[in-house]
Amino acid sequence: MKAAIFGTGYVGLVTGTCLAEVGHQVTCIDIDAAKIEGLNRGVLPIYEPGLEDLVVANHGAGRLQFSTDAAGAVADAEVLFIAVGTPPDEDGSADLKYVLAVARTIGEHLRAPAVVVNKSTVPVGTADRVRAAIGQSLAARGLDLAFEVVSNPEFLKEGAAVNDCMRPDRIVIGSRAPRAIEVMKRLYAPFNRNHERIVVMDERSAELTKYAANAMLATKISFMNEMANIAERVGADIEMVRHGIGSDARIGYSFIYPGAGYGGSCFPKDVQALERTARQHGYAPQILTAVEAVNARQKHRLGELVRQHFGGEIEGRCFAVWGLAFKPNTDDMREASSRALLEDLWAGGARVRAHDPEAMAEARRIFGPRDDLDLCDSPATALAGADALIVVTEWKAYWSPDFKAVRASLREPVIFDGRNIYDPAQVEDAGLAYYGIGRGRSVQRPAETRSDA
Ligand SMILES: NC(=O)c1ccc[n+]([C@@H]2O[C@H](COP(=O)([O-])OP(=O)(O)OC[C@H]3O[C@@H](n4cnc5c(N)ncnc54)[C@H](O)[C@@H]3O)[C@@H](O)[C@H]2O)c1
Repeated sequence: MKAAIFGTGYVGLVTGTCLAEVGHQVTCIDIDAAKIEGLNRGVLPIYEPGLEDLVVANHGAGRLQFSTDAAGAVADAEVLFIAVGTPPDEDGSADLKYVLAVARTIGEHLRAPAVVVNKSTVPVGTADRVRAAIGQSLAARGLDLAFEVVSNPEFLKEGAAVNDCMRPDRIVIGSRAPRAIEVMKRLYAPFNRNHERIVVMDERSAELTKYAANAMLATKISFMNEMANIAERVGADIEMVRHGIGSDARIGYSFIYPGAGYGGSCFPKDVQALERTARQHGYAPQILTAVEAVNARQKHRLGELVRQHFGGEIEGRCFAVWGLAFKPNTDDMREASSRALLEDLWAGGARVRAHDPEAMAEARRIFGPRDDLDLCDSPATALAGADALIVVTEWKAYWSPDFKAVRASLREPVIFDGRNIYDPAQVEDAGLAYYGIGRGRSVQRPAETRSDA
């Protein structure tokens, strides 16, 4: 089938590439000409495991095109995806200006009946607004073409996006139009062979499903961070508690890791947007408000621990920070907890020596050159001459350092473990003080692996 995708970011590029990989003819459109020009040369704008090879292969095979020519792509495609950003506007609601701009563009260039698919995360009722915007543009051209608007929210996880797209847990199709549902089922058939993954529902339920999923996951994280803060005060170890509750199948081990708060381009803005939607409809969502507030506070927990350790005074000190991306396996630093930590350290007059396996270019772009930030090319270089080590993102590369070497590099023997990836006893055996999130005194802990960080 012929598909055009508006927005060549995390969602648009991954979706377009996976659709091309299963044989569809895909054109990815973006208004960012530099991004499109780079992609046409095989240079990816984002880091996502496995994506580059697929992009190069499908582009080479002629199934995946990159273009800024919206008119050409609209005229040619049977399915038109909207996968542009929906950032928060001033009051935290989702800003729909990019989504509606694409809708108008589609209306300006449509020549034959088509299915318009909204993949951006958008408030309930947006499908109606997209439909109206396309209809107005068509009317301005004196045309009355048949088109359908489908809500098809995206559930991919950055860092595992290709796998999520190729083997989705579920494919939500929000539409009441039999023709559109049929087109979507044909498009996604290659992803639906092993078992039925397609869930068809009305548009509004599909739109709310996406927010409900993200709000649920954010709630689990904030809940565990609340438990961690209680554990700290009562002398318990949250990691023990995590094992104790995760073993209950009704609770499960997924997404109950305490830490330095959630970040990224989705949870913070989606929880906020859902909260605003609820309020606009006269409902005060108490859980969502608390989830946001707990997370906002948690992002400063590492900064607080550091200050406390140094007697409230960090001016003139230097800190090694491992991990800048909001989570491992991505270079995305949107709303990353590292940013709150760095701001806290800088506000206290400290300097930072930071490392991240993939987000260095992004950090350079965000922070620009500054005297109080050294971006170091290895974890070891970041340690040199630093007063303490702070781990913010749990990249695998940071999991098993030589603690004795860490100790030898640091001016003060202390580690702040913002993701509880270390065994406190092991750290302390190497002569380093250990601070985690919600952990009491060092006790022997079971070996473990994290799977869904
Ligand atoms: N990133 C994720 O993990 C993820 C997961 C699920 C859903 N989502 C949702 O998907 C949407 C897109 O997110 P993203 O992270 O891919 O965003 P992104 O910022 O990475 O990419 C958006 C792209 O859209 C382009 N764009 C803006 N206006 C355009 C226009 N008129 N025509 C063509 N291109 C245009 C931008 O230049 C940019 O390249 C958001 O609503 C987001 O909430 C994101």
